[in-house]
Amino acid sequence: MKSLISKYIDEIRNARIEDFKDKAAEVEQFRVRFLGRKGVMNELFEQFKALPNEQKKEMGIALNELKTAALAKVEEWKNYVEQSPELNDTHDLTMPADLYQRGSRHVLSVTMNEIAEIFARIGFTVEESVEIEDDWHLFSALNFPPDHPARDMQDTFFVQKEEGKTDVALRTHTSSVQVRVMETHKPPIRIIAPGRVFRNEAISARAHCIFHQVEALYVDKKVTFADLKQTLLYFAKEMFGEATQIRLRPSYFPFTEPSAEMDISCNICGGKGCNICKGTGWLEILGCGMVDPNVLEACGIDSKEYTGFALGMGVERMAMLKYQIRDLRLYFENDLRFLHQFDNII
Ligand code: DAH
Repeated sequence: MKSLISKYIDEIRNARIEDFKDKAAEVEQFRVRFLGRKGVMNELFEQFKALPNEQKKEMGIALNELKTAALAKVEEWKNYVEQSPELNDTHDLTMPADLYQRGSRHVLSVTMNEIAEIFARIGFTVEESVEIEDDWHLFSALNFPPDHPARDMQDTFFVQKEEGKTDVALRTHTSSVQVRVMETHKPPIRIIAPGRVFRNEAISARAHCIFHQVEALYVDKKVTFADLKQTLLYFAKEMFGEATQIRLRPSYFPFTEPSAEMDISCNICGGKGCNICKGTGWLEILGCGMVDPNVLEACGIDSKEYTGFALGMGVERMAMLKYQIRDLRLYFENDLRFLHQFDNII
């Protein structure tokens, strides 16, 4: 028995946790083997009880030594495992994974891209320009008279408005991009300009101080109102479906002459009249017209040689009509319950 105890003591003293592969589990196995209920210690103790009295003292001391060595080792190893973060991997690999929220495009981006694609198919390219504009590009070159209400403080966020200095403002419409393009490009010009615009409006379900527009401009020799009308019809059918009809109502914009507003047949009720089209069967979609010769001349284009058409639409309104969104504020609040409804429209 004595030699057996010495053998165990040697084994315990020589055992190195570094040699264990699955350290936490092997430490536990070791503890059970020596100190568990049916372990080495208890077994030896049973043998000890049967020894003649004169041997008990020596064996008692040896057994104690063995138990102390085993306890000390287990204690040492447990500390070692606890202090090694890599050995305390408590991940349960069978647990269901946390699903990452998948991002998606904002419905306004989707709508803007769709408009851009429709125009790209008939040869329009995309132009982008500055959001902080001067008076010339925003108003003067676009034939706004000096006292036109759109130049008013009530509508426009001015960045600079001082006696003797050029007015600078956040652009109130993307029509300013028309001027930028015509000043720098020779006709033929066939562009769209999508982007953000800013107006000093109280925020409500129907108005916001930031919104988006897409402008289109086509300038070439012999561009006529018939070209505008066909382009509008093509766009309306592509955007809202083949059955869509359009109608033009005379209107006024300083930069187009003649000017018109385009309505489409209501895509909700099919023209019969509902609460979206307020019983009329028609929805107002965009403003358009033939580029005013004054605008062409202001941008250095000979209005005797060239004509053009322009149109501008609100992206929020397009998306509202297409996806039946009732409140403008939803676009900007980033409520996931709203955003996720458009996950699958690409
Ligand atoms: N700029 C106009 C607006 O913000 C929209 C517009 C109307 C643009 C007629 C055009 C146009 O190019 O021809 O309300």
